Amino acid sequence: MKNDVKEVLLTEDDIQEICRTLGEKLTADYQGKDLFCVGILKGSVLFMTDLIKHIDLPLAIDFMDVSSYHGGTESTGEVQILKDLSSSIENKDVLIIEDILETGTTLKSITELLQSRRVNSLEIVTLLDKPNRRKADIEAKYVGKKIPDEFVIGYGLDYQEKYRNLPYIGTLKPEVYAK
Ligand code: IMP
Ligand code: MG
Repeated sequence: MKNDVKEVLLTEDDIQEICRTLGEKLTADYQGKDLFCVGILKGSVLFMTDLIKHIDLPLAIDFMDVSSYHGGTESTGEVQILKDLSSSIENKDVLIIEDILETGTTLKSITELLQSRRVNSLEIVTLLDKPNRRKADIEAKYVGKKIPDEFVIGYGLDYQEKYRNLPYIGTLKPEVYAK
């Protein structure tokens, strides 16, 4: 599997440093608040487990799983909920944890949905951001690293459900896509 990797963009150490920095920032920003972390399955799982270890606050975690409807070549901008939250988020300070923000279609729909549940506040933390690909009007308040418009895998991110278990983030060799 490691032979399929063309270039490592973020090493394990880079990722841990990002988690530490973001965790410290979140700890400072959410003092005294009722923090409720929502991980978006499945890509955010590795990032979430590392990030919350650096947040020095009492917090709750939950997960959502969504799938984007892609009719033809353009995304319709709607998402289907495959797994909803297990508890109420009313009056909570909700932090969505995502692996990567690309077009923003997914997070735009999720934020609109969660906002309608009378939360106290709603923010997004994303490990990676590809700003050049944005279509929806959405930004994350907390960004680990901005990256160029290139497909990446590892540390939760997949290509055809594979490579999520790589401990770093990288790009794939062109021959992998030709298989
Ligand atoms: P968006 O709705 O276009 O912002 O898509 C975000 C979702 O697309 C992420 O949660 C990922 O599942 C997936 N995605 C976007 N870019 C990549 C990538 O470079 N590698 C793997 N998955 C990606
Ligand atoms: Mg995802």
